[in-house]
Amino acid sequence: MIIGVPKEIKNNENRVALTPAGVAEFKKNGHTVYIQTQAGLGSGFSDEEYVKAGASILGTIEEVYAIAEMICKVKEPIASEYNLIKENQLLFTYFHFASSEPLTHAMIERKAICLAYETVEKTDRSLPLLVPMSEVAGRMAIQEGAKYLEKPMGGRGILLGGVAGVKPANVLVLGGGIVGTQAAKMAAGLGANVTIMDISLPRLRYLEDVMPANVDTVMSNEYNVREAIKVSDLIIGAVLIPGAKAPHLITREMLKEMRQGTVLVDVAVDQGGCIETCHPTTHENPTFEIDGVVHYCVANMPGAVPYTSTLALTNATLPYALQLANKGWKKACTDNEELKKGLNVVAGKIVYKGVSDAWGLALSSLESVL
Ligand SMILES: NC(=O)c1ccc[n+]([C@@H]2O[C@H](COP(=O)([O-])OP(=O)(O)OC[C@H]3O[C@@H](n4cnc5c(N)ncnc54)[C@H](O)[C@@H]3O)[C@@H](O)[C@H]2O)c1
Repeated sequence: MIIGVPKEIKNNENRVALTPAGVAEFKKNGHTVYIQTQAGLGSGFSDEEYVKAGASILGTIEEVYAIAEMICKVKEPIASEYNLIKENQLLFTYFHFASSEPLTHAMIERKAICLAYETVEKTDRSLPLLVPMSEVAGRMAIQEGAKYLEKPMGGRGILLGGVAGVKPANVLVLGGGIVGTQAAKMAAGLGANVTIMDISLPRLRYLEDVMPANVDTVMSNEYNVREAIKVSDLIIGAVLIPGAKAPHLITREMLKEMRQGTVLVDVAVDQGGCIETCHPTTHENPTFEIDGVVHYCVANMPGAVPYTSTLALTNATLPYALQLANKGWKKACTDNEELKKGLNVVAGKIVYKGVSDAWGLALSSLESVL
């Protein structure tokens, strides 16, 4: 199969869909790979490295779309790419169709095969192509939180781990899923006193078993949250209710119970946030302050560490991309239920319920396209 990797053109997107190691895997399986010049630069991969691994470099995005049977990307195509997409071209990328009606209509019109990273789903209902980014964001949340706890950054001026004779900081993690677990591990590793809150008792039980001694688990409810925020230096919002807006566990009125210079990192901001006073910010301007409390609410945290994020993402996507290339999308999706769940829009038909529901458009059965 002919695989094409365009350079991401969405604002501030430095990830790339394929690393030189991925190119080598495709070549080993007998495929041809075209990479747009400088596509890997933001993640630290030069054109020369891709050529060494067996790829050919193309000068423009138009050439990549024109030649490829399968396009591997990171973010959804933006408007300027719509007309480059060919009928029956396979697109393997994040789409998030339910948040963009124009994108949905454009992909229907182009009659492409749209396989969305975010809906590839394992039998245990986990989302293997979203997990890596949650892992990155969870770990980063502590790194960023530690930075903004420094006095010149607006924080309380407390070192997470303390030193001999001085108590460490208190870190509260709301939500003990992927993001929360990674955040708790990082904070604990730095020596902080960590509390994880979740509403799932089995999850708390698991965390209690695997976390180090400086991590406590507490049931999440309003009373416990109110008590904990009074003594927390850094609070991480990592709550998710699948398919719904995150609940506001910390309300505006609760801010006055916190100490000046407390730092809030609301990782869940992309789902509306679990802290009422949060609104999405960018890496250029990541924080704002309300009532003396520092808010960090960057909606695409992994974007700041493209090297790590690209490797983490491609480690997860490559095995699926290889199946698609080796078998063709129809057979790969028939053979693999996980991949089949990734099909969203196929040759002009919507085949994913969440997308048809979002825009009130007709839903076709998977059988009708496979
Ligand atoms: N900002 C970013 O760059 C970025 C990056 C990756 C993920 N995220 C977001 O981070 C959030 C968390 O993702 P995840 O992968 O860890 O999800 P997850 O499903 O693994 O974990 C969510 C956890 O929240 C818990 N929960 C639900 N209601 C709760 C409540 N009232 N109190 C306490 N806990 C509660 C659940 O039981 C679950 O354990 C999501 O909104 C995700 O979209 C943001």
